[in-house]
Order: sequence, then C-alpha cells, then structure tokens
Amino acid sequence: MCGIVGYVGKKEVVPVIIEGLRRLEYRGYDSAGIAVGGTGNGLELRRAPGKLRKLEEVLSDRPIHGTYGIGHTRWATHGRPTEENAHPHRDCTGRIVVVHNGIVENYLALKHELAAEGHKFVTETDTEIIAHLIEQEMASAATSGKTMPLEEAVRRSVARLTGAFAIVVISADEPDKIVAARFGPPAVIGLGEGEYFVASDVPGILHHTRNLYFLADGDMAVITPSGVQLTDFHGNPIERQVQRIQWDPIQAEKGGYKHFMLKEIFEQPRAIRDTTLGRISLDTGKVFLSEMKISDEDFRRATKINIAACGTSWHAATAGKFMIERLARVPVEVDYASEYRYRDPIPDPTALGLLITQSGETADTLAAQREMISKGSKTIAICNVVGAMIAREAHGTIYTHAGPEIGVASTKAFTAQLVALFLFAVHLAQARQTISEDEGRALLEELTMLPGKVEEILKTVDGECEKLARIYSNVSDFLFLGRGIHYPIALEGALKLKEISYIHAEGYPAGEMKHGPNALIDETLPVVVLATQDKSNRDSKLRYEKTLSNIQEVTARSGKVIAVAVEGDTDIGHLVEHVLHVPHTSELLLSVLDVIPLQLLAYHIAVRRGCDVDQPRNLAKSVTVE
Ligand code: F6R
Repeated sequence: MCGIVGYVGKKEVVPVIIEGLRRLEYRGYDSAGIAVGGTGNGLELRRAPGKLRKLEEVLSDRPIHGTYGIGHTRWATHGRPTEENAHPHRDCTGRIVVVHNGIVENYLALKHELAAEGHKFVTETDTEIIAHLIEQEMASAATSGKTMPLEEAVRRSVARLTGAFAIVVISADEPDKIVAARFGPPAVIGLGEGEYFVASDVPGILHHTRNLYFLADGDMAVITPSGVQLTDFHGNPIERQVQRIQWDPIQAEKGGYKHFMLKEIFEQPRAIRDTTLGRISLDTGKVFLSEMKISDEDFRRATKINIAACGTSWHAATAGKFMIERLARVPVEVDYASEYRYRDPIPDPTALGLLITQSGETADTLAAQREMISKGSKTIAICNVVGAMIAREAHGTIYTHAGPEIGVASTKAFTAQLVALFLFAVHLAQARQTISEDEGRALLEELTMLPGKVEEILKTVDGECEKLARIYSNVSDFLFLGRGIHYPIALEGALKLKEISYIHAEGYPAGEMKHGPNALIDETLPVVVLATQDKSNRDSKLRYEKTLSNIQEVTARSGKVIAVAVEGDTDIGHLVEHVLHVPHTSELLLSVLDVIPLQLLAYHIAVRRGCDVDQPRNLAKSVTVE
C-alpha cells in the first residue's frame, strides 16, 4: 500500500523517482506526488490526483531540477484522493516534507494538540501531522538556542506515533539528506555508487541496484551522498547486513505482454520449477527445506498446524489443509489472518503456525504471526519476497520463487504457494513417517511434471478462454463450484473474476448448492465447475461422480456450465455448455492445473470489459494496514 521512492545522487532526481514510482504504482494509484530539494528555491512540490501519468503531466508543465527528493503513489486511507491529500505533506513553513505508508492511529489527538500550539492543517490526512510534529521538535530546540538535526527531530516525532508507518522525510535546510523510519510497513535502502535510494518495495529501485538494506521495525536510516547510517529509534547505531537481491530487473517489466497479469500467468511454469528447484531428490524421494530452523522432532511432535493468510493466500492455505491432512495426517486449522487474533485462539505450544503471504508484509498476517508466537508456537512463513518482515520473524521460511508479482491480482504467486505447500506437506509426512519412500518419490515425480503440464494448458486454453469471454463478458453474476481441494480453487476463480472484471462472483462447495444457492440458477447464470479427477485415486473418482450430479442439478435449472475437466473426459462434454481441458495429474496437484483456466477466463473477461486489469479499482498490492 502506497509506493515510496527517494533518491540522493548525481542523476536528475525527478526521472529516477518517477521511474521508481511507476514500478511501484501497483501499491497504490489514487494520487501521486513528488518533492525535490536543492532546486535553488527550497523544496518544490508537485502533486496530482489520479494515476502517476497525471503527475507526469504536471511535471512536464512545471518541471523541477534538484539534487535530492522523495515521491509517493497513494492508496487512500485517511482523506479522499484529492491533490490536497496527495503526499508529500508539508509543515507550516513548507521547509519539511514527509511521505508516509501506513496509518497513524493517534493522529486526531496529535492534531488537536498541535492545533492548540498554533499549527494550521490543510489536509484530511494523518500524514500531515508528522511534518508538523517534526517542525514542532525543531522549533522547541530553537527556542533554547539549539539547532536540532532532522534525524533527531524525526526520532522524537516517531516516538509519539502509534500505528504503522514507514516515513521518509526531507528538509530544505539540510540539503542532500533523506531520513527514513520504519515501524510496520516495509522500507528498503538501495546502495549504489555514490548514490542512494529508499523505497517501499524492491522493484522501485531494482533497476539501479541489487544491494539493499531491509529496514526492520524500529530502524531509522540517514541517507546522504556519502553513505547510509542506520540507528534504532533511540539513536543507537545498528548493523544490518547488505542483502543482494537475485531478482532480475527484467522480471519486473511487461516483456511484450499487454498486461503484467497475463505475463505472470504465462510465467507460472517457471515459477513452479524455481520453487521446486533444489528442494527435492527423486533418488531418495525426499524434500529438503533448508531455510527451515524447525527440527524433524518439532514436526513429529506437532499436534496441529494453524494457518493464517488473507485473500488469494488464504485460498492457497485452504488447499494446503487438504495436502497436509491427506499426507501428514495432522489436523490443520485455517484462519483469515484478519480474524485470527479476535477469536482469542487457545494457546498450544505444540501447534505449528504457518503464515502464507506473497508480499510478506500484509499487516493482518503479521499480526496473526505475532499472536501465534505470543501463544508459544513456532512459525513458518511461505513468502515470495526475500527479507520480508514475516520471514524475519518466522522460525523457518519456504520462499516461493515466483519472482516479482506486479499485477495486483495474484496469479503466479498463488500457484507457487500451492507448490510450496505441497513440498511442506511431503516434508512433514516424511518426518512423521505417514508416507513411504516410494509414495514420496511418486508424489515428487508428479510434481516435476507439473511445469510442462501448465505450459500445455497455457497453449491450448488461452484461446478458448478468450472465446468464452466474448460470450460471457456482459453477465452480471458468476458461480464457481468445486469439491474437496477444488473448492478453494473455485473460491480463487471467483475472487480473480470479481477483483479485475467487477462482475459479482461467488465460489461454493459444489455439494452446498442444494442448501440454498440453487435458488440463484437460471438460464443467465454461468456456473464454472471444477470437475477434474485423478482416475487412479478412489476418493477423487467418487468426488468427480458427485460433482457430475451437481452439474446435472445446475443444467436441469437451465444454468450454463463451463466445466474444467481432464483430457480424455468425453462424457462431460455431453452434459455441459463448454469444457476446458487440463492434463492428468494426481488429485492434490490437480489444484494447480485447475486454477490456470480460471485465471485466463477472468483475465479475458476483464480485458473485454475494458477494465484496468493490472490496477483494479480500490485495491492495492500490499495491504500494510489492518
Ligand atoms: C488477490 C490478492 C489478494 C492477496 C492478499 C494477501 O488477487 O492478491 O487477495 O492475496 O491481499 O496478500 P499477501 O499474499 O501479500 O499477504
């Protein structure tokens, strides 16, 4: 949520910041702004409501040149997305400016206090009070004849804030200095040659440097052309390791695709391969999770796995429940991370916590993790962003190697999460000896064939989904049905469609239809049914047969069924309007194949409806507020 980029160095400041903001625009796109110092005219600001291109238009009418600056793309929390409310925000003198990602929870109390001291506010935002607090600190030092450096004033100000914030501050009076502080939302510092960067996420600066400091909660950075000083909020120097990011900057480009989402859908074979790479041995049938500081003994003793996640990651979690329970025979509870803390979970130190998150910075998921740790559980993260907060706080991390995901609607991160969960389930099953070596080997062999099967689907089904989009892009509702592990995939199909096409869609367990939702069915309602099966698996065949009955219940009421079925399933074609075929694989891994046609269907429908696929309305990629 909200993109931040700051730069000090020899390059033209504005293009560096605008380029960085463009790469972070997926984090928020309600409004944007920039402040530049070293202009010969104090700090100059330009802001504009709407997407970044509006700010670029403003800048081309009224350009700025300077030596240091900060920029911001906003996802509104406090105050409407107007120019006035766009960041950066100023103090009364206009000599201090702040950009902020997060929420200051006590801003109203601080605002009243500062107003009583004579501060005048011009926006509805919580951020503005930070600039005024800094000004106030400097002013009170000045009354006793002292000059307070910017970093000291920032340090004193952040001590007064409650909530979550990553802030970046510059002052007209301290040229070429940028001060950043983090408590909650992420902030990374980029180390170049005689130039330094700050950003709210790696892609904002990745094309300049791969050497980064990830600030932790309670860290501050003072960035000047001569280097970066890191301290805690009390001013004590701290050491952070420089992390070298392996992501290729090219991965964060569209690479000829019309949208990031489409590119990311097509990157799934690679994402699955990379997530598996180096973690399995087909000789021994074993999974190696080296980033795991949890012993096999912990796995053996675990009485339960508690999973918490949000949105698409919650769907992966729910599919993961099937994988873990089926293979490792340990009970799994799945919670919405936003709900976890509020149900007063029962402490159980022998339960393991599992957090699933693409960004690794979702505030609700982090809060659930902290709750689990406070109740005595060890936690494991499944995360896509190296060095993210969730991974730092976890006792073990399984990184999904999906590469940067820019489209707001998650696709490749989801399938990579399913693969990571499958690896985790096999690993756990091996530690608990609930599967034999041969079973392990067979599962892993199947996994290695998955990328090729996804490639096959992408070749055949993309065009079919485009055709279906022509038929169904004008409907107002969609249903998605699945049974067993296919149910969370139905939920994911519905979420993909609603978030990028704005068509109302719901996912249901297929067997639940007769308990109410059947009332919705008529000849206008398309119903997508996940009817794939693993013929070698008795339970899967049974599930398939029941699903066929559910299809008949829909067609008997004139509903239009689009089925996802395995290749060679000729019977189903007689029952339904359209069939999208996927190759065979084992029951648990079918979940990965199932979702690809659903992603493509959502994508093509959204494109036909003229929607902004990569940046759907009211959404942002990383949700760093609760
Ligand atoms: C939907 C989507 C969101 C995220 C959710 C959690 O396409 O992307 O539902 O899955 O906001 O985000 P992470 O996985 O970063 O914790």
